[in-house]
Parts: sequence; structure tokens; C-alpha cells
Amino acid sequence: MSKKPTKLEKDIPTTGHSWDGIQEYDNPMPRWWLWTFYATIVWAIGYTIAYPAWPLVKGATEGFLGYSTRAEVAAEIASFDAANEGIRAQLVAADLNQIATDPELSSFAQNAGGAVFRTWCAQCHGSGAAGAKGYPNLLDDDWLWGGDMEAIHFTVTHGIRNEDDPDGEARYSEMPRFGTDEILEPAQIEEVVNYVMSLSGTPRDASRVEAGKVVYEDNCAACHGDDAQGDREQGAPNLADAIWLYGSSYDDVMESVSNARFGVMPNWNTRLSEAEIRAVAAYVHGLGGGEAPVE
Ligand code: HEC
Ligand code: HEC
Repeated sequence: MSKKPTKLEKDIPTTGHSWDGIQEYDNPMPRWWLWTFYATIVWAIGYTIAYPAWPLVKGATEGFLGYSTRAEVAAEIASFDAANEGIRAQLVAADLNQIATDPELSSFAQNAGGAVFRTWCAQCHGSGAAGAKGYPNLLDDDWLWGGDMEAIHFTVTHGIRNEDDPDGEARYSEMPRFGTDEILEPAQIEEVVNYVMSLSGTPRDASRVEAGKVVYEDNCAACHGDDAQGDREQGAPNLADAIWLYGSSYDDVMESVSNARFGVMPNWNTRLSEAEIRAVAAYVHGLGGGEAPVE
């Protein structure tokens, strides 16, 4: 029997506590446990000196190694930026209409433009660019202000009806408030609303369409056109198709005519670089409704 002799119970010290005659042994912690414990303390002190650790009122202690996850991300972004510098310069130098025909530029513009769109445009135009009431669908070929690269680039650069464009070139037009400002009698407004709705086949009261046509010619044709096809110079929508920016119901059209609308889009020239604007313009142009340049 080579078993290590165990200490007799009476030789083990107790903590001195006694409760109802029950006492507690005072056994030391095992060596290996203690050393591991001391090692973790040493490690923790070293770590808090080397790396950012202790929270301060603003931020935290920086650590001697100067490590920061934020700086790492920034360095990564900078390296991607540097890698794309060449193609970005090419994008800015290219003729707007040539971007789509150059496979390398076009693929870069589609990717970069898609990212810009998801970050800056999706909240208004929808993540799939299908728009919403008051925010035009950018997937179709129905354009308020024009759908070739030059027009889209201009719209995105300066925006629409904003006061912020530093060049003062935001697209601008203002439909009169025919009801609110009492330009037309309520009866005339009902007539012209019925006429406008008849153009897409849904007048509410067909007997008033005829009279509405006269009101239209006198008050609306100058902007929306004799045949109501709209006017891109003024961003006046086509009223003869089934596409409605502000809704197709009688009440919606009534509101558009009585109180007018004033769709505002920010200018992007102060927030995005020229390369980003070109990329997102190419992306929008490539969504399906993009038009060839006017000769
Ligand atoms: C705050 C909302 C908002 C944001 C953000 C926004 N837009 Fe717009 N955008 C509008 C509105 C509103 C209109 C329509 C204005 C009008 O009635 O003429 C519009 C119109 C447009 C048009 C003209 C469509 C046509 O039929 O001619 C284009 C192109 C366009 N936006 C692209 C973009 C792009 C690209 C971005 C992102 C860089 C963007 N928009 C971000 C609100 C927004
Ligand atoms: C000074 C030019 C101008 C005149 C005059 C004008 N409009 Fe407009 N109209 C516009 C513009 C610009 C818009 C788009 C407003 C926007 O997007 O915010 C518009 C929008 C509309 C809309 C909404 C279309 C949609 O897709 O939802 C209707 C309906 C409309 N106009 C009907 C009329 C009628 C009817 C008259 C005559 C009584 C008239 N307009 C006169 C410029 C004009």
C-alpha cells in the first residue's frame, strides 16, 4: 500500500466558525488553481495597459499599443478607396452617355450606384425604386423631368423644388392652388377633375366632362399640354395615362387640383461626390426606364 497518508481529521485547521457544533475546515486552495488565478490578474493588468480598457467620461483609456477597431475599419475603407481611385476618376471623366457602353465603367457604376441608392434614396423611392405616393417610381419609363442620363444626372445633382442647391439650379415649377386660392369656382374644379379622370377612362360624372375640357384648355394645358401628355420642362405629369404620382381616386385628383402638390427632392451635390452622383444616375438609368440621349 503506497497510498499517501491522509491527514488525520484533527490535524486539519478549522476556520474557527462553529454553528450548532458544526465546524468548517480551512483547507488551502490547490497550488495550480492559485497560480492560474495570479496569472489571470497579471494578464488583466497587462491587457488594460496595452489595449483600450477603462471607461472615462468621454471614450476610454487608449492603451499603449494604440489599437482601435474604428481605425482598423477606417484603414480598410481607405484601402478600398485607394484601389477604386482609378476607376472613379474614369467615371468622372467619362461622357455621361458613354458610361453604359463601357463594360468596366458600367459594372462599377451599377455596384457603387446600387450602394448609394440603398443608403440615400431608398427611404423615399423605396428599396426596389418602385416609389410611393408622392415619390415617383424610377423603374418605369414615365418621367417627370426626363429619363436620359443627362436629365437624371441633373435631377440628382440639383434636386427638385429645394432651396438648398448652392447653384440655385434645382428643378422648379409650381402648380397653382386652384381651389385654395379661389382661382376656379368649386363647380369648375369638379368639372375639370372629371375631365382629367376621363382621360384614363374613369370619370365620376360623365356629364361634366365636356365642360371640364373647356376649363382644362383655359387653365391647365399651358403646363400639362394640349393633349395632357405632360411637359418635362416643367415637371408637369402626364394626366392621360394610368400612372398617378398622387393617387387616382376622385378625392386624390380633387386634392391635387384644389390644393396643388409640391414634391421636394434634396440636391445631392453637397452630400455625394460627383463619382457617386454619376454612379447612382447610371444605376437609376439602368433600372428599366432609362432613355437614349436626345440628339
Ligand atoms: C426626401 C425624399 C427623397 C430622397 C431622399 C430622394 N428623392 Fe428623388 N425624388 C423625390 C421626390 C418627391 C421626387 C418628385 C418631385 C416632383 O414631384 O417633381 C423625386 C424625383 C426624382 C427623380 C425624377 C424622376 C422623374 O420622373 O423625372 C429622380 C431621377 C430621382 N428622384 C432620383 C433620386 C436619387 C438617385 C436619389 C438618391 C441619391 C433620390 N432621388 C433621393 C424625393 C426624394
Ligand atoms: C404652372 C403649371 C401647372 C398648371 C397651370 C397646372 N398644373 Fe397640374 N401639375 C403641375 C406640376 C408641376 C405637377 C406636379 C407637382 C408635383 O410633383 O409636386 C402637377 C400635378 C398635377 C396633378 C397630379 C398628377 C398625378 O400624377 O398625381 C393633377 C391631377 C394636375 N396637376 C391637374 C391639373 C389641372 C386639372 C390643372 C388645371 C386646372 C393643372 N393641373 C394646372 C403643373 C401645373
